[in-house]
Amino acid sequence: MRQVALGNSGISCGALGLGCMGMSEFYGPPQDEAVSQATLKRALELGVTLFDTSDMYGRGHNEELIGRFARGKRDRLVIASKFGVVRDPDGPSGSLHDRELDNSRDYMRRTLEGSLRRLGTDVVDLYYVHRMDARRPIEDTVGDLAELVQEGKIRAIGLSEVGPEILRRAASVHPIAALQSEYSLFHRDVEAEVLPTCRELGITFVPYSPLGRGFLTGAITSAASLDANDLRQNAPRFQGENMDRNLALLEQVKVIAAAKNCTLGQVALAWLFAQGDDIVPIPGTKRVKYLEENVGAVGIHLTPEEAGSISAILSPENIAGSREWKAPEAAPR
Ligand SMILES: NC(=O)c1ccc[n+]([C@@H]2O[C@H](COP(=O)([O-])OP(=O)(O)OC[C@H]3O[C@@H](n4cnc5c(N)ncnc54)[C@H](OP(=O)(O)O)[C@@H]3O)[C@@H](O)[C@H]2O)c1
Repeated sequence: MRQVALGNSGISCGALGLGCMGMSEFYGPPQDEAVSQATLKRALELGVTLFDTSDMYGRGHNEELIGRFARGKRDRLVIASKFGVVRDPDGPSGSLHDRELDNSRDYMRRTLEGSLRRLGTDVVDLYYVHRMDARRPIEDTVGDLAELVQEGKIRAIGLSEVGPEILRRAASVHPIAALQSEYSLFHRDVEAEVLPTCRELGITFVPYSPLGRGFLTGAITSAASLDANDLRQNAPRFQGENMDRNLALLEQVKVIAAAKNCTLGQVALAWLFAQGDDIVPIPGTKRVKYLEENVGAVGIHLTPEEAGSISAILSPENIAGSREWKAPEAAPR
């Protein structure tokens, strides 16, 4: 698989990563361990090397899963984890009611030790601030992360869902290897300012939810078909009339997909690749079949005309329903 550098950290990874969150939580019950392990194994066989997790996915379950997978092959993996979103350790699975933000030095150091133990490693390759805690200047947070780089506990620093100003301030303290924010045909806010700033600062862009939380694959046709504790039950774009209108847009994209002999999900990923070769999408899946399909997107080239037509069909004006999730649950991070 084509390799992409993560900023100037010296770390490279396959152009497509794997989002592991759904194996533990948020999109239905945790996946069976054997199925998750088979998916992780197949990913590595196919050249996927960036595995994306967080201390909060499944409250440690997701890191433990990756830790078991990494045994005996740690040096072939690029493990990305995150800190900063704190949950009640005894809270219910699949819920984000009990979420708080904490970017403090103490919390960062304590939670990193937990991540290292669960991942069964002595270094996290890419360590993200999962969400910036507005109570703490980003310069201070990045300064503390830079110390962890010096100590050899993390290899590179990432941020998630921050804007251009924070990126600049952060990068003035220590190089930032990657920014992970939501980006797909379903959500394109980063195009105006964030992506250009990443390019100017040499920060690799990692789109999360690159399949529009599964919508862009066409596999989800009603919120009612989702598991009872699937958080997408609360996503406006997946509801009633909005869903019907959005599915009608996908029907138009299907014509382009059919002409390219590929699937809707592959078109969504190929469209991201068409936005630049410094972009590493991390589609989430818990099954081998979807993983193989997603990896197939790496070889699909959309012409500027094809990418433009798809952009026009799924333009922000055409998509029905806001990105914001209905209370009481906010979108999984
Ligand atoms: N930094 C942040 O704040 C943040 C926020 C959200 C997510 N993330 C990261 O980004 C990763 C990806 O995002 P995401 O999981 O929210 O959304 P996504 O990748 O856009 O979509 C995942 C959904 O698409 C389905 N899917 C995947 N490939 C498919 C295919 N080929 N055909 C049909 N359906 C397919 C998955 O199904 P199955 O699960 O059933 O396989 C899952 O329901 C996460 O795993 C997580 O690591 C980060």
